[in-house]
Amino acid sequence: MKHYLVTGGAGFIGANYVKYILKKHSDIQLVILDDLTYAGNLGTIRDNLKDPRVEFVKGNIVDPQIVKSIFEKHPIDFTVNFAAESHVDRSIENPQLFLQTNILGTQNLLDTAKKFWAVGTDEKGYPVYREGVKYLQVSTDEVYGSLGETGYFTEKTPLDPRSPYSASKTGADLIVVAYSETYKMPVNITRCSNNYGPYHFPEKLIPLIIKNILEGKKLPVYGDGSNVRDWLYVEDHCKAVDLVLLQGRTGEVYNIGGHNEMKNIDIVKLTIATVRKLMEENPEYRKALKPASLSVTDLNRINNDLITFVKDRLGHDHRYAIDPAKITGELGWYPETKFADGIVKTIRWYLENQDWVEEVTSGDYQKYYEQMYGNR
Ligand SMILES: NC(=O)c1ccc[n+]([C@@H]2O[C@H](COP(=O)([O-])OP(=O)(O)OC[C@H]3O[C@@H](n4cnc5c(N)ncnc54)[C@H](O)[C@@H]3O)[C@@H](O)[C@H]2O)c1
Repeated sequence: MKHYLVTGGAGFIGANYVKYILKKHSDIQLVILDDLTYAGNLGTIRDNLKDPRVEFVKGNIVDPQIVKSIFEKHPIDFTVNFAAESHVDRSIENPQLFLQTNILGTQNLLDTAKKFWAVGTDEKGYPVYREGVKYLQVSTDEVYGSLGETGYFTEKTPLDPRSPYSASKTGADLIVVAYSETYKMPVNITRCSNNYGPYHFPEKLIPLIIKNILEGKKLPVYGDGSNVRDWLYVEDHCKAVDLVLLQGRTGEVYNIGGHNEMKNIDIVKLTIATVRKLMEENPEYRKALKPASLSVTDLNRINNDLITFVKDRLGHDHRYAIDPAKITGELGWYPETKFADGIVKTIRWYLENQDWVEEVTSGDYQKYYEQMYGNR
């Protein structure tokens, strides 16, 4: 029996990971720690909270008392840290919050785990830890900076973050390395590319585009839309985190992603075409239109004319692309879901789960949306 502390488990990737490991491993106990910021939604894991293997704690990863109380109550073996402020645009508006959550939160989790996991010291004075424990930091390819038209990020690419978000994630990674070197803590870092799939908060590109198409709103695209991202289906990411946690070599970094490079503008056009095609084939999906409609003529408004180019993001990185050779070679992982299949699965999910979208896009999100895209 393994006891997990999963932070950020009510967010996009964390929730998908919780669902994935509960299905995959019967013999586990989970504590989910999440502060339920605008990006966290308990509705996403509503069904999982009924599982007797799961306990939910609302709290901030920066708070030493909360994290300590979890370790006092449960014999935690694994800490998997998804909790973060994760949106680059928001980091440009409020960098300090990103440093607090992403750097200090990570340090607090490491420090508490260190205290509870250490069972003695070796002859050189380094802590010795209970057998089988590990801390896994979920990081991002953005710590490597931006690529030109060619080349890939490997685990040896120098860290070169550009935005307050990526700088804060880099700071967190370096703290993890420091705990590994200084205190010999058993850790891994995973760095993944852009995820897409179910439960993605609709301020990120793909779910935002779907939402706006359904509402007949313009589709904002930064700059000329030529920025390239390496898209990874979220379940493939969850599989990789599970593998690294259970089989990854201690102390190692693993890049996760690979060979699904797309320009933002092409993603937007493909999303438009796919929403339209799915609605043509399945009249039931047209109920997701706002206002709901079954009329085929209403589909005429779903076309590329909805695209509107908006002022580019400050310091917008041009291209990210991952070389996943290390995780493939050592752990046999590869991105199983081809983008052409993953995007259809994702759009279907959004068309069938409009209740979830309504639930998460009330309140704070509306204010934020007005601030970023108002009058466009
Ligand atoms: N989404 C991506 O494409 C992507 C790509 C690479 C790396 N990542 C990393 O993966 C992780 C998860 O990303 P995501 O897209 O699921 O993010 P998300 O914004 O959807 O979810 C973050 C979760 O963390 C919680 N949280 C935020 N601050 C907290 C705090 N101080 N204490 C406790 N909980 C807090 C939120 O409530 C939310 O549930 C992040 O660390 C992110 O940097 C994401």
